[in-house]
Amino acid sequence: MSELRLDGPDKVRGTARYAAEHPVEDPVHLYALQSRIARGSVTALDVGAARAQDGVLGLLTHDNAPRLAPEADRDLVVLQSAEIGYRGQFIGAVLAETPEAARHAAGLVQVQYAEQPAELAFAPDDPQLVAPEKVNAGHPTDTDQGDVDAAFAAAEVLVRGTYRTPLEHNNPMEPHATIASWSADGELTLYDSTQGVHWVRDALVRAFGLDPERVHVISPHVGGGFGSKGIPHSNVVLTAMAARLVAPRPVKYPLTRGQMFDVVGYRTPTVQHIRMAADSAGRLTAISHDVAEQSSRTKEFAEQTAVPTRTTYAAPNRRTAHRIAVLDVPVPSWMRAPGECPGMFGLEVAADETAEACGLDPIEFRERNDTAQDPATGLPFSSRNLVSCLRTGAQRFGWYDRAPSPRGNRDGEWLVGTGVAASTYPVLRMPGSRATVRARPDGTYQVLIGASDIGTGAWTALTRIAAEALDVPESSVRVSLGDTDLPWASGAGGSTGTNCWGSAIVHAARLLREQLAEREAMPDEGVAVTAGLPDNPHAGNCAMHAFGAQFAEVRVHVHTGEVRVPRLLGIFAVGRVINAVTGRSQLIGGMTMGLSGALHEHSYRDPRFGHVVNRDLAQYHIAGHADIGEIEADWIEEHDPYVNPMGAKGIGEIGIVGTAAAVANGAYHASGVRVRELPLTPDRFL
Ligand code: MOS
Repeated sequence: MSELRLDGPDKVRGTARYAAEHPVEDPVHLYALQSRIARGSVTALDVGAARAQDGVLGLLTHDNAPRLAPEADRDLVVLQSAEIGYRGQFIGAVLAETPEAARHAAGLVQVQYAEQPAELAFAPDDPQLVAPEKVNAGHPTDTDQGDVDAAFAAAEVLVRGTYRTPLEHNNPMEPHATIASWSADGELTLYDSTQGVHWVRDALVRAFGLDPERVHVISPHVGGGFGSKGIPHSNVVLTAMAARLVAPRPVKYPLTRGQMFDVVGYRTPTVQHIRMAADSAGRLTAISHDVAEQSSRTKEFAEQTAVPTRTTYAAPNRRTAHRIAVLDVPVPSWMRAPGECPGMFGLEVAADETAEACGLDPIEFRERNDTAQDPATGLPFSSRNLVSCLRTGAQRFGWYDRAPSPRGNRDGEWLVGTGVAASTYPVLRMPGSRATVRARPDGTYQVLIGASDIGTGAWTALTRIAAEALDVPESSVRVSLGDTDLPWASGAGGSTGTNCWGSAIVHAARLLREQLAEREAMPDEGVAVTAGLPDNPHAGNCAMHAFGAQFAEVRVHVHTGEVRVPRLLGIFAVGRVINAVTGRSQLIGGMTMGLSGALHEHSYRDPRFGHVVNRDLAQYHIAGHADIGEIEADWIEEHDPYVNPMGAKGIGEIGIVGTAAAVANGAYHASGVRVRELPLTPDRFL
C-alpha cells in the first residue's frame, strides 16, 4: 500500500484551491473597519468620503447590518449595536470592486467613540479573579482529592514553583479567509478556511436563523489550522452579512496577518503555581496546580491548563484549580493542545525539579510515579505506555551519556545539556459524525463524509481506513470530504478526526458488507449505507489517553544566553498509526510548534490600548528552518482495542505537548539556570 499523501500532487502543483482562490463570478472585496478603543461605543461613523471613492460599492455598519439571533455565539454577533467589547472588534466593512479600493476607502472612514475605562492587563495575583463554571472541553474547574495540605506539611521533599506561559496567536500559513454569496432565493454559499464545514454551517444557521439545507460550506483544502479555524469567528459572519448587501455578487474577505491577532482567538497567558511533595524514595505524595489565566468579557473561555495534572502521575493527594481574569480583550480560544500544552510545561518542569530534589534521574522519577489507573477517575487506562516511551526514547537518544549534574558539559562557548519531558493527550470523541459508503457495480467504492483535511493527511488516512474495513484495495476507494453536501461530520479538533470520522466510516462499511453479502446482484446504482459514529462500548470502563516522551539536546551560549536545540526526539504511544508518512509529519509538526513556543512565540498586548503590538511574522517569531536541527518522531507498537475499531488514538496535538518543557529542562541541564517562563529568550540565562 502506498504511503503517499493523496492531496500532495495538487498542493505541489499549486492546483489545490484554498478558500480565497475559488473562482467566483464578479467578486466584491471586503476590508474591515475595526475598533480603535477597547471598551465603549461608536458615537459617529462618517462614511461620506469612503462612499465617494471610485469602486466603492457599499458600507456595512451597525446601522444597516442584518439582525442576528440573540442566542448566537457572543463571539460571532458583530454589528448588532454600537457597543465595543475589545480593540480590533469589527465595527463595519467597506465593499469595493478591488481589494485596494476597499482598503483605501476604509482608511477614510471617520469614527468617533465614547470611551469607557477598560481592563486590559492580565494581573494574575488580582483578587478579582473568578472561577469559571467549567473549563474547556467540559472539565470541572477545580478538583481536590485526599488531604493536600497535610501531605505538604509532612513532605520529605517539597518543591514549589511558579511557571508562566505567554499570550500566543495561531498563525497558520493560510490566514482565515471566506467567500460568501447569497442566491436570489436566499441560499448562502461559503468557501471558508475552516477545520469543520458543518460547525461553520451550524453556527451560521443559528446566527442568521436559516434552514440548514440552505447553507452550503465548501472547504476542500486548508493551509493549516491549529484551533483558530476550529469554530468560525466574526470574520465569517461579517463576510456573510456584507454579501447580503451586494447579493447575488460574492464577497471575498481574506484576513490580513495583522487581523489574525485581533479576531480569531488565541492562547491565554497562564501563571501556574505548582507544588509537589515526595517521599524519600521519590514517590509523589501530593501535587497541587493552581492556574490563573485570562478570558474575555465578550464570552467566557477558560483553558483547561491544570487538567493534565489530574491524569499524568500517581499521587494520593491532589488539588487543581483554574481562575480567570475577565478582561476587555478578544475572546481566547483553541490553539494546538489547549490545556495540555501550557499545563504540561508547568508540570514537567516541576517534575524535573522534583526529580533533582529527590536525587533521581528524571526518567527514573517518572517511572516511579507511573500509574496503571487514571488518578482523575480511578479507571484503568485502556493502554498506557509512558514508561515504554521514556525507556525507548532514552535508549535511542543516548540519554544516559549525559553529564551527572547541570553545567557539566561545555563545547567552546556553548553549554550543552539534555532534557526530557512526558506528554499526554486524551482520546476525545466528538458526537455526531456520519458517513455514507457506496459500492458500485464497477467494483469501486465511494465514501462521503463532511470531514476536513487541514494538511494533516486525513484524506489519505480515511481512504486507508475505508479500504481496510471494506477489505478492498485503496485504489478502488474514493473519499470525498470538505463539503456540507456530504454527511454531517465534526471538525478537525481535539485530535479526534481519525477516531470519529474513521469509526463512522468503519461502521458504515461493515453494514454495507452485510448488505452486500445478502444480495444476489448489484443494482446499477450500486448499494449505499449511511451510518453514524457508534457509541464506544468501553467508554465508561477505561480512561483513554495517548502518551509520549520528548528528549531535547540544548545549547546555551555562555556569553549571549542564546538557546539552540540541535536535536529533538519524540517517542509516542498513540495506538496504531494509520499512515506512517502523514503520521510522522503530524508528530514532527507538533514538536516543531512546541520548539517554536519554547524559544520564540510571545504576543505582546499593549496594556494601555488593548491591541497586540507584534502583529506580523517579522515581530511574532515562529521557528524557521534554521531553528530546527535534527528532529525525529517515532512510536512504539501499541495495540489498544478499546479506543475505536482502528486502534488509533489521535496524533494532531500530542507532539506539541511536553516539547517546551523538554527544552527548558535541557536548558537548565546545560546552563544551571532554571527558567520557569516561556519563551526561553537569551536574557533569562544571563
Ligand atoms: Mo485543535 S486546538 O483541537 O484545533
